[in-house]
This record gives sequence, structure tokens and C-alpha cells, in this order.
Amino acid sequence: MATRNDSRTRDSKKTDNREARRERSAFSFGGKDGAAPLLGALAAGAAIGIGANWARKFLQQTSESMMAGNAWDEILKLEHKATLAKFDLLLATADDETGKRTALVKALHYALNKHAHQEEQVVYPALRQANETVDADHLEHEHGYVKTFLYRLENMEKDSADFLPTVREFRALIEEHARMEEEQVFPRFRAAMSEEQNARITSLMNKEGMKMN
Ligand SMILES: [Fe+2]
Ligand SMILES: [Fe+2]
Repeated sequence: MATRNDSRTRDSKKTDNREARRERSAFSFGGKDGAAPLLGALAAGAAIGIGANWARKFLQQTSESMMAGNAWDEILKLEHKATLAKFDLLLATADDETGKRTALVKALHYALNKHAHQEEQVVYPALRQANETVDADHLEHEHGYVKTFLYRLENMEKDSADFLPTVREFRALIEEHARMEEEQVFPRFRAAMSEEQNARITSLMNKEGMKMN
């Protein structure tokens, strides 16, 4: 007959296995300092003379990262906020401000593209490795609709009566999507990861972000 001690041993073995799986994850390697790979890459870039453009990208990404306390979820939260502010500027435009609308849609496209790239290349795969597949798939599915809204806005006459209602609908999707990430998925995932794993995710995400700057 199984005793309470047996089931406790089984439970602790389960926990050990989970920890071991986590340690084997692609997101668990690397040093204590999540910024180390970036700094190493910067030194390598300087050594072979990659130059000013690369340095500009590096500074842009690292200043965003430092402002957010060098935590991947805080960086993404800042980007959500900046993106929603762009939507608000767009919603404040008049129908005859077509040049301004074109420029803001372009800025929105750039910001959303970079943000989605970081999440799709690093955060969502890390979620799937931690068995958070349902949430990762749901969020990535919504990114498809983000691209659809961008396509619609880019190909719409900027003085169309449909322009602002489409922006409003698009903003609501982004707000809801960001809320799910910020309030449900990301805090739970961050808490489940070790400090080292979170630093690794931040480092990988910054590298992907730099590719899009
Ligand atoms: Fe997202
Ligand atoms: Fe996001």
C-alpha cells in the first residue's frame, strides 16, 4: 500500500524532473549576466570595424532595456505603452491630414513589427518550451490579425470615412492583447523562470530587437 512518504517522494521526484527539463531548455544556458552576450558581440563588432550604424542600434536597444530595468517583460510593457500612444496620435488626426496619417501608420508598422519579432522569435518559443503552448498559440494567432489591420490601414485612402473606425478597432485589439500578456501570461511565466533564465530571455530578445532597429 502506498504511504504518505511514498507520495511525497514521488512529488519531489516530479519537481526534480520539471527542474531538470527547465535546465535543459534552450533558454537556460548562458552566464549569470544576461547582457554579457550583447557586450561580447559589441566588442567583436568594434574589433572588425562594423561601425556607427551597429553602435546606434546597440545603444537604442540597450537604452530601452535599461529604462525597463533590463527585464524582458518590462521592455515589452514599455513598447505596448509607446504603441498605444501612437494610436492616440492617429485618432487625433483630421481627415485632411493625410500626410500625417501616412507617417503615423508607417511608425506604427515599424513599432509593431519589431515588437512582434521579439515576441515570436524568443518569448513565445520560450513559453512553448515551458508548456504554455495554448497561450503562446493564442497570442501568435492574434499577431496575424495585427498584420491584417496594418495591411488594411496601409492600403486604405487616408481620408476615407472608414479610416478612424478601423484605427479604433485595431487599437482595441492591441489593448486587449497587451492586457493578456501583461496581466496574465508574462507575470506567471517570469515567476516560473529562474533569475538566470529570465536574464537569458532578456538577452536573446534584445538581440532580436537589434536586428529590427
Ligand atoms: Fe504579442
Ligand atoms: Fe506584446
